[in-house]
Amino acid sequence: MINQIPHITRKDVNMPCVGLGTMLYPEPEKAIDLIRHALDYGYTHIDTARKYGSENWVGEAIKSSNIQRDKLWVTTKVTEDNAKPDDFRKSVETSLSALNLDYVDLLLIHWPSRSVPIIDTVCALNDAKEEGLALNIGISNFTVPLIEEAVRCSRSELFCNQIEYHAYINQDKVLDACDKYGILVTCHVPLARGKILNNPIINSIAQKYMKSPAQIALKWLLQQSRISVVPRALSYKEIEENISIFDFDLSEDDMSQISTLRSNNLRIVDPEVRRPVWD
Ligand SMILES: NC(=O)c1ccc[n+]([C@@H]2O[C@H](COP(=O)([O-])OP(=O)(O)OC[C@H]3O[C@@H](n4cnc5c(N)ncnc54)[C@H](OP(=O)(O)O)[C@@H]3O)[C@@H](O)[C@H]2O)c1
Repeated sequence: MINQIPHITRKDVNMPCVGLGTMLYPEPEKAIDLIRHALDYGYTHIDTARKYGSENWVGEAIKSSNIQRDKLWVTTKVTEDNAKPDDFRKSVETSLSALNLDYVDLLLIHWPSRSVPIIDTVCALNDAKEEGLALNIGISNFTVPLIEEAVRCSRSELFCNQIEYHAYINQDKVLDACDKYGILVTCHVPLARGKILNNPIINSIAQKYMKSPAQIALKWLLQQSRISVVPRALSYKEIEENISIFDFDLSEDDMSQISTLRSNNLRIVDPEVRRPVWD
């Protein structure tokens, strides 16, 4: 059991730097059991979305656990199909009802819409915050020009941009833009859906630290500033492993070696119907 997970902070708001991803979960009973196990083991940050169909399971797992609401961080997202303000509002209400919560800690626009102006969706996002449905708001899969537009449109500061980031992709442009506007970064697909776990460099570093390849890949992300990760796993062992990464630090040399892998430029989440023009 992990007692205390480090946080990343934006203006006095603290978010646990490791969360549990809940996309592509198996059948409901197994999903609820895995999420509940994560909560029992010390996870205090859960990442879900209307699109994943996992909000109900997250809600059930929270209800059956002993965790206090104010010790928990829940992120959910509104899909681009609900980018118009009225639809957006309904989606947030549906999410809260599925989660059985009065508010989420972080509400994200899941993907930028191609058909609805950014300003309309960002206004709806701000409305949700002002109505107390979300404590913090942010964006996901936003590129540099879209980040700039969202920042310009938003009445409230944007807390986070959730983007694909792992050792096989170079996201320097987006990271720099987020840094410029003080926006934290959450890495989705932080293990490149397992594709980096056989890499020889990651494996030799893992052996040196007596850690698993997944732990090394996650630690490489977390040792960069203002970063959090939301890995997903389907076994107790992997769920536990992915958060047991605070008893070691990678050396500068090992960090640099892993950074060379970014030249692979592997983008995993790239749906044609949703993708913006990537930086
Ligand atoms: N904002 C967005 O657009 C967006 C897009 C995609 C994902 N997300 C979020 O990001 C989360 C993570 O992404 P993801 O689930 O696609 O990919 P991921 O976390 O990079 O990888 C999951 C894969 O890694 C394996 N794995 C996990 N922990 C492991 C360990 N300790 N050792 C060995 N293998 C391990 C899992 O294997 P098993 O299946 O065998 O457990 C699974 O195949 C999602 O669940 C979701 O919450 C957000």
